[in-house]
Amino acid sequence: MKKIGILLSGRGSNFEAIARNVQAGKIPAEIAIVISNKEGAGGLAIAREMGIKALCIPSKGKEREAFEQELVAALREAQVDLVCLAGFMRVLTSYFIREFQGRILNIHPALLPSFAGVDAQKQALEYGAKFSGCTVHFVDEGVDTGAVVCQAAVPIQDEDTVETLAARILKEEHRIYTEAINLVLGDRIRVEGRRVILKK
Ligand code: GRF
Repeated sequence: MKKIGILLSGRGSNFEAIARNVQAGKIPAEIAIVISNKEGAGGLAIAREMGIKALCIPSKGKEREAFEQELVAALREAQVDLVCLAGFMRVLTSYFIREFQGRILNIHPALLPSFAGVDAQKQALEYGAKFSGCTVHFVDEGVDTGAVVCQAAVPIQDEDTVETLAARILKEEHRIYTEAINLVLGDRIRVEGRRVILKK
């Protein structure tokens, strides 16, 4: 059974959606560990309630690499095959990325390369885009720059606020993260340059 490690910093709804799909047998893997860099993260409480191993490794006041060494040690101990960032509000250094080369996914609430970085839904709304959406991508050294695994588009309506748009996007996030995890863990894709291609 493949093992997933989740990194998060907040609410944890993407983690919860993944965990529910694992429970429902829609992802043939187990979540071996959930790690938050913030003690108060809602995601940690959800994990504990669901009986999933959850721990806090605070990032505050630590050198980036010292923090990441702790993360790597915990993920290695849990023997994870895939690291899923789910609202993890830290940029990872090349040290961490090398340790899990090609095995780190992130979800971003916009159609990359549009609206990278923070407040992506607000950026899309203020830009006046007519569609936005979400992207699951491999993580590289940049901010939201890695090869795209899955995307879903949603319309932006005239009445939208950041909240209503974020909610419409979030629904799709919960769907495509599972899809992307299954593609990666099932060895069903190959990466050619920036392109993630389905194996025939
Ligand atoms: C999501 O919008 C995700 O795309 C972004 O951070 C948010 C996390 O939400 N990276 P949650 O903690 O999964 O509910």
